Amino acid sequence: MITMKDTKRLEIVGLHVEVDGKEIIKGVTLTFYPGKVHALMGPNGSGKSTLAHALMGHPKYKITKGKILLDGEDITMAKPEMRAQKGLFLSFQYPSEISGVTISNFLRTAVNNLREKKNLAPYSVVDFHKLLKEKMAQLKIDSSFSKRYLNQGFSGGEKKRMEILQLAMLEPSYALLDETDSGLDVDAMKTVAEGIERVRKEKDMGIIVITHYSKFLEYLKPDQVSILYHGKIVKTGGHELAQHINEKGFEGLAK
Ligand SMILES: Nc1ncnc2c1ncn2[C@@H]1O[C@H](COP(=O)(O)OP(=O)(O)OP(=O)(O)O)[C@@H](O)[C@H]1O
Ligand SMILES: [Mg+2]
Repeated sequence: MITMKDTKRLEIVGLHVEVDGKEIIKGVTLTFYPGKVHALMGPNGSGKSTLAHALMGHPKYKITKGKILLDGEDITMAKPEMRAQKGLFLSFQYPSEISGVTISNFLRTAVNNLREKKNLAPYSVVDFHKLLKEKMAQLKIDSSFSKRYLNQGFSGGEKKRMEILQLAMLEPSYALLDETDSGLDVDAMKTVAEGIERVRKEKDMGIIVITHYSKFLEYLKPDQVSILYHGKIVKTGGHELAQHINEKGFEGLAK
């Protein structure tokens, strides 16, 4: 018997993706589960970000073969907004700089938009601020941060914290984090990893993390590690695979 629980997963089946007429992803099959951390690693240019964009439905990334199933539902052709509504989240999905919009207002609009699509009542200003304050405290973000303008003069680390704050506020079912750790100092990396770990546990969120740093994975302890190489998955293993790559690099994995 197939129950709802059995279909709870994000599946990529035999996916081929083209960018500007060039095939970058050449038949990738991967499954991501709720409540699990799955790390996607691979050398520069292997297609990790391309795969992430294709998963989110970016119009530039053309799926020529294969499919994407979200909790059993085929979303291969769904629009990005529809995917977000169904519970997918991509870390760099917010505009780089919008003049005159504070973080607080930006997040309230995003959260209430999503609630409206799910037929939930929007948060009042008071309730929203209460929630935002709580999440910011958990993520060790200074309370003055929410009054700043979106991305204006943000340091690298502040941009990453903004991503995690968005994640905590939007509570997606599956989150794709493309190099959320890059440019973070060691303490910030730990805080961000703890933030991810907290939302994963609380919301049974499936986390897909694209990273080059095994340090970040030491904090995150992925359940699974997959290696993408020239657009194909060449190896899958546990967290010890990340350690192996850290020591030996990607050489030899393609065989
Ligand atoms: N518009 C394009 N036209 C042609 N090739 C492209 C285009 N966009 C991306 N590519 C190529 O696709 C390949 C995969 O790029 P992608 O950004 O997915 O790699 P990545 O694994 O995320 O690398 P990194 O670790 O450096 O972030 C690269 O060789 C890149 O040059
Ligand atoms: Mg990339």
